[in-house]
Parts: sequence; C-alpha cells; structure tokens
Amino acid sequence: MKLKSIKQIKNLAGQRVLLRVDFNVSLGDNLEVDGCEDFRLRRVLPTIDYLTKAGAKVILLSHLGRPHGKKNKSLRLTPIARRLTTLLKRKIVKLDDCIGKKVEQHLDKMHNGNIVLLENLRFHIGEEKNSDKFAKDLAILGDIFINDAFAVSHRRAASLVAITKYLPSYAGLLILSEVEQLTKFFSKPKKPLVVVLGGAKIETKVKLIDSIAKKVDYLLIGGGLANNFIAAAGNQVGKSLVEKDMMTEVKQLYKKYSKKIIIPTDVTVDDVKTKKLEACQKDLIDIKQYDRIIDIGTKTVLEWSDVIKQAKTIFWNGPLGIVEDKKSSHASRALTELIAARSKRKCFTVLGGGETVWLIQDMNLFASFDYISTGGGAMLDFLEKKNLPGLKPLLK
Ligand code: 3PG
Repeated sequence: MKLKSIKQIKNLAGQRVLLRVDFNVSLGDNLEVDGCEDFRLRRVLPTIDYLTKAGAKVILLSHLGRPHGKKNKSLRLTPIARRLTTLLKRKIVKLDDCIGKKVEQHLDKMHNGNIVLLENLRFHIGEEKNSDKFAKDLAILGDIFINDAFAVSHRRAASLVAITKYLPSYAGLLILSEVEQLTKFFSKPKKPLVVVLGGAKIETKVKLIDSIAKKVDYLLIGGGLANNFIAAAGNQVGKSLVEKDMMTEVKQLYKKYSKKIIIPTDVTVDDVKTKKLEACQKDLIDIKQYDRIIDIGTKTVLEWSDVIKQAKTIFWNGPLGIVEDKKSSHASRALTELIAARSKRKCFTVLGGGETVWLIQDMNLFASFDYISTGGGAMLDFLEKKNLPGLKPLLK
C-alpha cells in the first residue's frame, strides 16, 4: 500500500497544516492524562516536530470519547493540551471549538512553527456523519491536510474522509510507520504464527476471526470474546457478558477452526451476588449461576504457555480479563510475562489496543515488544481488509 507522504510536500513554511491525530485516551477520575495513557500522544510527536521545524503552522484535530454531537465538559481536550505541552516542552494553545469565526480569527494570528489544538471534533454531529458541510468548515481553516490518526482511520468521519475532497491530503509519519510495520508483519510472518485476541464485542469480530483463523497456526481467545465460545461449547457462564444472538455464528466458527481456536479451560471469577472481593479460579464445569468471568485461569496460562513457547510470531490485541484490577488479573499478567519473555527469544511480537498497551506499560514491559500499534479496532480492520476508509483517499 503506497500512500502520499508528508515528505512529498515541498514547501511547508508558513502553510497551515490541519493535522488529524487520535488523542482518544482514557482520562482518569482527575481528568488528566497519566504516563500509562499518553502513548498515542508520544507516537505523533515526530510528525509535529517535523512540521514545526519546517515552519508550518500546526493545527491539531482530534476526537475524544463518543459525545455524539453534544458538548460534554469531561470530554474537552484541555487535559490533552496540558500533557502535550509537557511532552513537547512548549506551549500548545487550545481553542474552545473546532470550527467557526472565533477559531478562524485565532488561527489568523498564528506564526510559523506555532501549534494549536482545536476542541473535540465529535462535539459536532457532522464529524461522525462524514458531513460535507462540517468537512468544508474544517477545510477552510488550513492549506494542507495530513492524516496521522491511524487508530481512528477505520471510521468514516468528516475529518478523515470528506475533508480530503477539499484539501491536498497526505499521510503523516505515524500512519506511514503503522502501515509499513503491520504489512511486514502480516504478509510473511515466521511460523508458527500465534494470534491472541481478547476484549469484547464478538459481533464486530466474527468476520475478523474467520479471516485471521485461516492464516494462523493458533488463535488463543480470552476476555469477553471467550465467554461466547465458552457458552457455545455448552458451558454455564453465570452472569458473564455473552452476546446470545451471536451463538450460531460463534458455534460455526468454533467448529470450522476447532484445531486452531483455543479457548480457556479454566477462568477467574467473582461472585456478583455476594460481591465477594476475592476472585477465585474455577474449571469451566464449576461455574455457578452468580459467577462472573473476569479473567482467564492459571491452568489456562500453563496450557497456553506451550503454544507461546513454540511461536515465532505473536500478534496480540485486546485484554484477556479485567486487567486494571491487579488482584484479580494474576493469570492475564502471567501470560503477558510469558509473551514478553518469548519476545526476547527471537519471536517477533506485535500488539495493539488501548487496554493492552496500558497493561504492558503498567507492568513495565513496554520495551519487550517488537512493535506496538496505536490502533485497536483500526489495527484489526487493517489486518482484515487493509482498505481503511481514512487511508483510501491518501493512496498514491
Ligand atoms: C479508538 O480508540 O479505537 C479510536 O479512537 C476510535 O474510537 P471509536 O471506537 O470511539 O470510534
């Protein structure tokens, strides 16, 4: 896949560059971006640096959360601007909107090398509707458009798709690196290739699992996804989240790839009735009415370690349990350590997804992995179909 690159732009000095980034990170209760959450911000710093050094006026565009066209105080980008100021060691001006006269007036005062962050794009419904009108309102703010928001390029949004009709458009350094690395990894992986998939929403992942299972040697499934397979295999899942209307598809998948798909044989549960704080390990057969699956089990870690130890390539997306809670995620964390250790022994490891990246940072294992993508859903969609809506308009 060859994209029009930021490096092809001849004269950036004095040009207003609309730089679409993905600063969609979790803000803690204190509404700040902490060191385990700023990965997406850090990955876009080289592009910002490149542009400011070339004398461009950099106008950053991002979404945060899913406000669906309504202003929401807790989804303002002010904490992002604070964190970015710290990371770049220079002042970032943050505006209160992303379109309109006041914004235009402010941008008119920018000097070469200045950086401005506009307010959350999703405060306007036109963003998620891929509206031409909203795209035009954005486009008049700049001379050039650069998409460096790989993590949201699977969405058909105005600031990613419609805007490219109105401005010369290019891919930023982060997108170029994501496309190169993920293509390299998935086109000719060293075998055995093991994919570890966690997270929830089986409905959005059935097609992906079908397409990935064809290419892999083993597909280890944990997290909320696994609950559906555990149920499809005829087990009780108690109060665990299961997408009942997807059972037929899940059963078909499991049957079709019975030699490749591996699901947990034991799990960590808590009891939603007694609200017992202590999580405990249970074989699938012992799951009771009020149990809720919150992680894979320790026996599963042992069994999966045999697969992990053979792997020459490991691809991992999505948490295998509720990993924020250290006490109840022993098993997930043990498996993470195994993958990290394998990584050092000539196995190529790639991972992505907000919670997965958070976990390895929390465990201080960031440096153990070969490639860490900023994308969660976008990375999965890229591996499945390559042609993401936000990348298509940037093709050469
Ligand atoms: C992400 O975090 O995966 C992207 O920013 C996309 O966010 P969305 O799922 O709310 O569209």
